[in-house]
Amino acid sequence: MLKYTSLTKFHWLTFTNFVISYSMKKIQMVDLKGQYIGIKDAVNPAIQEILENTSFINGPKVHEFQKNLENYLGVKHVIPCANGTDALQIAMMGLGLKPGDEVITADFTFAATVEVIALLQLTPVLVDVNPDDFNIDVDAIKKAITPKTKAIVPVHLFGQCANMEAIMDIAKEHNLYVIEDNAQAIGATYTFSNGKKAKAGTIGHVASTSFFPSKNLGCYGDGGAIFTNNDDLAHTIRGIVNHGMYERYHHDVVGVNSRLDSIQAAVLDIKLRKLDSYNNARREAAKKYNEAFKHIDKITTPYEYGSSDNHVFHQYTLKLKDVDRDGLVAFLNENNIPCGVYYPIPLHKQKAYKDDRYNEADFEVTNQLVKDVISLPMHTELDDEQITYISEKIIEFING
Ligand SMILES: Cc1ncc(COP(=O)(O)O)c(C=O)c1O
Repeated sequence: MLKYTSLTKFHWLTFTNFVISYSMKKIQMVDLKGQYIGIKDAVNPAIQEILENTSFINGPKVHEFQKNLENYLGVKHVIPCANGTDALQIAMMGLGLKPGDEVITADFTFAATVEVIALLQLTPVLVDVNPDDFNIDVDAIKKAITPKTKAIVPVHLFGQCANMEAIMDIAKEHNLYVIEDNAQAIGATYTFSNGKKAKAGTIGHVASTSFFPSKNLGCYGDGGAIFTNNDDLAHTIRGIVNHGMYERYHHDVVGVNSRLDSIQAAVLDIKLRKLDSYNNARREAAKKYNEAFKHIDKITTPYEYGSSDNHVFHQYTLKLKDVDRDGLVAFLNENNIPCGVYYPIPLHKQKAYKDDRYNEADFEVTNQLVKDVISLPMHTELDDEQITYISEKIIEFING
């Protein structure tokens, strides 16, 4: 056997890493299996029941989940659909936006948001974000408004609401619609300056969400939903999701086929009951990461607005300063720590969405963020040992 004295420092560290990573649960960006094990006893019979009753489409489970989500959010209407991208598209169709209408959204987000704007032949107007919470910059919105502007799409990025109070004020002043892209912040609570609270996705005229498996409320396939407090808009949207039908085989408007299936609704209904505790587990993990990094000058931990119920940490994203990010990613991967860069390219620089109208000077923050951000494993099953290991490895790399 190799004697300790013959191990170099390098060998010893490698050996230690091996022992730690061998005894520790495998670290994942999102641990869907671990979460499933915790709810298996409820999920399996619920799926089995649908297999037995064969109510795969538009079954009672979909309606039940819809009602439960309406109650949870405190919103009048939830209209389930096939995914979060459809939800955004259908929300815009429901509002009657027309080709050439300008829609303002954030440059720093997932492409789905701008994709549907372009797909509907609306004109996307990308604007910069805040350097602290990475959400759409209110002053940039104001600057981008023209007589053609019809809507603003704030994205509640990484789990924290955009500045909805200011956005709703701007919308009121300029007679614009607000469509909240709530794919990443379900369960987050926004606090207005007068202390009033509202769930993310219930403040604008309409909102969309995604139930993609890795989302805070994720199903076991694709799913999405639209939320609104407006009865007429809800009625319009219910027809649009169903081929534009309000009466069977009467197609009054051009619609789409976008449905949440019963198996997904059954899974979501079980997970909805646990959503607050899932979001709390994410917050606890975030607190532990924050604590570990609090003395590291080269790391900025996620900014959180006042109230602790505001952020649901869909992602835990650090901002790095004077750190070789590619080197850090490689080092973490070598140590079996997955990580992600959300998002590596600003939308205004993507081939599909480039436009001569854009001026680089208007995207100072996004252009910098894409170089500096790194997202760490964040999910409901992260344990202390994993968080300690991940943060120690990051600090080890940074301190050289
Ligand atoms: C901000 C944002 N909007 C929209 C979507 C689209 O959701 P889906 O993948 O369900 O179509 C996503 C999904 O990743 C998202 O993160």
